[in-house]
Amino acid sequence: MSLMPPVSRTLDPVWFDAVKARISSRRYTGEAIDPALLDRLDQTCERLSATPGAASAVLVREAPPEVFTGLVGSYGRAEDSPSLVAFVGTDEAAHDVGYVGEAVVLAATALGLDTCWIAASFDPERAGRLAALGEHERVHAITALGHATGKIGVSERLMRASLRARSRLSLDVIAPGHESWPAWAQEAISTLRLAPSGANKQPWRLHMDGEALVVTEAPKVYRTAPLDFGIAMLHAELGAAHAGVSGTWVAGLDGEVARFVPGSAS
Ligand SMILES: Cc1cc2nc3c(=O)[nH]c(=O)nc-3n(C[C@H](O)[C@H](O)[C@H](O)COP(=O)(O)O)c2cc1C
Repeated sequence: MSLMPPVSRTLDPVWFDAVKARISSRRYTGEAIDPALLDRLDQTCERLSATPGAASAVLVREAPPEVFTGLVGSYGRAEDSPSLVAFVGTDEAAHDVGYVGEAVVLAATALGLDTCWIAASFDPERAGRLAALGEHERVHAITALGHATGKIGVSERLMRASLRARSRLSLDVIAPGHESWPAWAQEAISTLRLAPSGANKQPWRLHMDGEALVVTEAPKVYRTAPLDFGIAMLHAELGAAHAGVSGTWVAGLDGEVARFVPGSAS
């Protein structure tokens, strides 16, 4: 199935600054988030969800703990997260779900909140009931949302070490020849490189074709790769915008994930 490219939305420059500050947090204090902060995040969710047929983000202010499944301390388990956001869409909109989800995660980071994408250990049926799904829609993933405990627990530290959560593939691996690319494309891929991905697998490869920045798949992809690509596309677009270039995502040619065409923003 070919997936629709992310729908262009107005990007907030504070999301660019949040890219470097964001890390996944899996242990929360359980303390409720200030309602005024939740209101601001809710406005962002609503704005990002306004395109019919595209992805949406649904803020759940009081997250039922049963939505977070999995063993305490295991991969995927977020403990004591007071709130969550569910990322919703059809299977065809999976790239857009990743794009919208990461915009929410970065907006939350900019508000001083902690997050963790969770595509594995959550209960999609329970989450679906909280999100009022449309036809053919499902909850692809959620993010935990709250204030992380000041200290990372031993199990999370071990997990982060095994995922090598802080490390990323080099630009030479993901974007061979990048040194000769235009400045905006270099900023795009440097920002993309920091994107989170399921189990930190980083399924993206990049090249230029004329003016366009082209995203393709690494040799091996896996279940969360469609979300990861959407996340990466938002990061690339934020980097390009930071360098003064706006554009649009269009469907990739055969075998490609998508293309970013500069200067064609409406
Ligand atoms: C789509 C997606 C799904 C993820 N699912 C889970 C998950 O189920 N459980 C979990 O503990 N972490 C999950 N993560 C977090 C990744 O493991 C994490 O982003 C990666 O290891 C990089 O670490 P960082 O986010 O701290 O930079 C997910 C991340 C993404 C992008």
